[in-house]
This record gives sequence, C-alpha cells and structure tokens, in this order.
Amino acid sequence: MWAFCMVLVMALCHLQGGQGEALKDIGVNWGAMASTPLYPPVVVDLLKENGISRIKLFDADPWTVGAFSGSDIEVMVGIPNEMLKKLSKDKDNAEHWVKHNVSKQVDGGVNIRYISVGNEPFLKSYNDSFVGITLPAMKNVQRAINKAGLGDKIKVTSALNADVYESATDKPSDGTFRKDIYDIMKQIVSFLDENKSPFLVNIYPFLSLYQNEDFPKDYAFFDGNAKGTDDKNVHYTNMFDANLDTLIWSLKKAGHPNVSIVIGEVGWPTDGDKNANEENAKRFYRGFLKRMASKKGTPLHPKSMITYLFSLTDENQKSIAPGDFERHWGIFTYDGKPKFSIDFSGKGQDKMPIAAKGVVYQEKKWCVLKQVNNNNKQAVGEALTYACSMGDCTSLGFARSCANLNLAGNVSYAFNQYFQINDQSVEACDFNGLAEIVPNDPSKGSCHFPIALMSSANIVKAMHHVKGYLIAFTLIFTFFL
Ligand SMILES: *[C@@H]1O[C@H](CO)[C@@H](O)[C@H](O)[C@H]1NC(C)=O
Ligand SMILES: *[C@@H]1O[C@H](CO)[C@@H](O)[C@H](O)[C@H]1NC(C)=O
Ligand SMILES: *[C@@H]1O[C@H](CO)[C@@H](O)[C@H](O)[C@H]1NC(C)=O
Ligand SMILES: *[C@@H]1O[C@H](CO)[C@@H](O)[C@H](O)[C@H]1NC(C)=O
Repeated sequence: MWAFCMVLVMALCHLQGGQGEALKDIGVNWGAMASTPLYPPVVVDLLKENGISRIKLFDADPWTVGAFSGSDIEVMVGIPNEMLKKLSKDKDNAEHWVKHNVSKQVDGGVNIRYISVGNEPFLKSYNDSFVGITLPAMKNVQRAINKAGLGDKIKVTSALNADVYESATDKPSDGTFRKDIYDIMKQIVSFLDENKSPFLVNIYPFLSLYQNEDFPKDYAFFDGNAKGTDDKNVHYTNMFDANLDTLIWSLKKAGHPNVSIVIGEVGWPTDGDKNANEENAKRFYRGFLKRMASKKGTPLHPKSMITYLFSLTDENQKSIAPGDFERHWGIFTYDGKPKFSIDFSGKGQDKMPIAAKGVVYQEKKWCVLKQVNNNNKQAVGEALTYACSMGDCTSLGFARSCANLNLAGNVSYAFNQYFQINDQSVEACDFNGLAEIVPNDPSKGSCHFPIALMSSANIVKAMHHVKGYLIAFTLIFTFFL
C-alpha cells in the first residue's frame, strides 16, 4: 500500500514539475532533416514538460503524427512541395492522402487542426516550379477534407514566405503581393477567405539582418532603440511589426481584409553566422514572447495570433544554400538539450526549459585526427574538405561556436561529424590512416563534439526485446501491491 502511495505522490509531483504553461497561442515547428531525429514519443513528452500545446510538422509521416495521439497537442501536418503535382492532378490522390494521413489519425485520437499544402512553394529559388499547382492542390485537399466531414475542424492553408508580398518603399502601406505571382496570390487569398482558413506566413527579422549589411540591428529586435519608420500616423520600432502590417495592407488591397493570420515560422538561429548566437536568440524570443503575451499584436493587427516558433531542434541535414545558420535554428540542440533560457509564457521570467528525457545515444566514442603522422598538410586538407562535404562543419570558423579550435581541432571536428553521421562505423573513421577513434570527449568550451543518437528504428527494435521484461516486471509489481 505504501508503495502505491509513493507511486501516486511521484505521479502528482511529476504533473506539477514542468516548466509551467506556455502561452496557449504558442507552438513550435519540428523539422526532421537531421541524421538522427529525436524519437517522436520523446518529443511529445518534451512539449508537455514545457507546456507547449501546438506543433507544426513538415510532412505527415504516420509514425510521427501517430505519436501525438491522445496528447491534446494540436498538430499541423504538412504536404511537401514534391507531392503538390500529384495532389493537384487528381482528386482521388488527395482523397487517398486525406484518408490515410488525416482521417485515420483523427480517428486514432490525434488532434489535427491545420494542413499546410506545400512549404514556401513560391520562393524565387524554385523558379515557378510550384506556382501553377499549389492552389489546385489546396482545392483538392479541401474537397477531400470536406468529404471526410472534417471541414469545420481542420483548416487547409499553405505556409508562405514573407517574400510573397513586398513594399517598394519599405513602408507597410505601400505593400502589395509580389507582381510575378499577383493573380495566384489573389486567388489563394480568396480561397482562404471562403474557407475561413488562415494566411500562414513565415517572418524572419534575422534574415533581413543577414542579407543586408546596412540593416539597423536593433530594428530586428523588440527592445531596441532603432530609429524606426513612420507610416500613416504609425511609428514602427521593429521589423516584425512592419513586415506583418505589410501583409495586412496587401490583403486589404487584394479585397480580403478579413483573412486571419497565423505565423508559421518565426525565430532566431544560434550558430553559423556572426549574428546567430544564443544571446541574440534569447533577446529576440524574450521580446517576441512578451509581445505575444500582451496580445497587442501589431499596429494594424492588434490582437493575439497563433505562432509557431522555429524551431524545436537543430537539423544537421538542412540545405545550407541560404546560409550556414540553417542548421542551427533549434531552441533545443539536436539531442533535446535547451540552449538558452526562455519564458514560453511571455512573462519575461526566462529560465532554462526542461530537457528531453529518454534520449538514447550511440556509444561514447569520437573520431579525431591522430596526434602523430599528421604532417602531410595536403592529405589532411583533402580529408578535411571531404569530411565537411559530407558532414556538418557549419560551427567552424569566425564568430561561431567552434571558432576557438586550431587547424588540427578543425580537422578533428570535421572527422567526428562524418563519423557520427555514419553511425560510428569504423570505416568512417579512417581517412587514409589519419584518423582514430577515442573514448574521451574532445569538446572544448563552446565547441561541442556531438555523439549521434540511436535511430528511431533501432530504438523500436530494442524495445521489442525490453517488452518481455516489462510485462514480467509489471506482473511482479502488481503482485507485490
Ligand atoms: C502520407 O504522408 C507521408 C509523409 O508525408 C507520405 O510519404 C505518404 O505517401 C502519405 N500517404 C498517402 C496515402 O498519400
Ligand atoms: C532555377 O534557375 C536557375 C538559373 O536558371 C538554376 O541555376 C537553378 O538550378 C534553378 N533551380 C531550380 C530549383 O530549378
Ligand atoms: C470584414 O468583416 C467585417 C466585420 O465582420 C464586415 O463588416 C466586412 O463586410 C468584411 N469585409 C469583407 C470585404 O468581407
Ligand atoms: C577552421 O576552419 C574554418 C572553416 O573551414 C576556417 O575558417 C578557419 O580558418 C579554420 N581555422 C584554422 C585555425 O585553420
């Protein structure tokens, strides 16, 4: 009986032990472009512990989505751009997708609320590949959702980058949808209005700072002394407000001022660029979350908005075409450790979030440059280039977390990244005899040499073995009570 009471007390403590409630409108993005993404049940627990009740995914991987069953966490599923063609062509394809990836999950207890059809499909770098097919795909998915009887509960939209609108003068009131896609945007906005679906927009003050040397740094934050911009009796003191209000003007001018707005992505990276660090990320989130808590919204949109922070964890396999910072957007590291203090409730009482529990690592071993026989500069240089072309070296270099390494340290870091990405295979730590596996962590100061996580597939395999023990244990325990 005592044992039972203890279990009960521990369970109650556990319920109250979390970080506290996050703002109800705050969610996070979770992308899986990592060599070993976190195990989905670990993520579900991580969100619960930190009081976060919304998640945005980039696909509808059945196992990942299924992990949210019964959790009350509201889920946005995504449709990758590569699938738009198929879904735009044929109603049956959309019905098939909805049946398998939405209806089935809803029946299984997953609280799906939004579907993003495509992810930033109108980026200029895609050369119009998705311009003609995004709206037809949205319409087919909407039709299938309606047919499944889910039209009221689940809203169909498309995550769009803020570059779908622009202002020639930088004043929000001169804002309008981009010329080359104006007609399409007008039709999309009309579709959203008709179906009471939100405009889903990604806004990045960091990118404005990154792309423009003359951008006033304080204008990217909410607490700065930026000079700001005046526009029709409104004084803008930060870029987020000005950007969102440019969208408000664009919607107004397109004749659809009542479309609601959800922020699909907003955040700040912590490595890979001189402005990407934990201090700036902390400052940005602090200002942003306080603003969201005040429910003041922006001057022209003075109310709260559902917002998905970008991002939950780092992703070491994201494309770095836009910049090396792309792999460092996580509020948490690749293995679910918090990077900086933050208050998800927006009260400004920053504290370290709760780390992920139950993360399963591979063995404690690292791959480094051998201390001897490494005088062949050319061979070492070639090995470094090769390791970095396959592994992730975005933390190396000026003003980054591994700026403190010397050349040999650089090489070791690159070797280890390659070794871990290859699941610690012995062949991946050879480099023509230049490399060796070591049992001691070579991490130095802010420069962290990671250990790969166990892949989800391997965890599931291991659990099948454990299951037998668990059943036996439960039986004994019940007997004991
Ligand atoms: C469900 O979604 C997954 C992941 O996005 C995709 O691979 C799969 O093809 C989808 N299933 C159907 C039936 O369309
Ligand atoms: C877009 O066009 C440019 C220039 O023609 C080309 O270099 C690039 O590979 C194209 N991108 C895609 C995604 O097709
Ligand atoms: C927007 O909503 C307001 C208030 O509900 C309504 O009066 C107005 O007609 C709507 N405007 C349009 C263009 O639908
Ligand atoms: C380490 O590598 C980075 C990126 O390749 C480079 O910028 C830096 O100069 C290197 N450091 C040394 C000491 O060679």
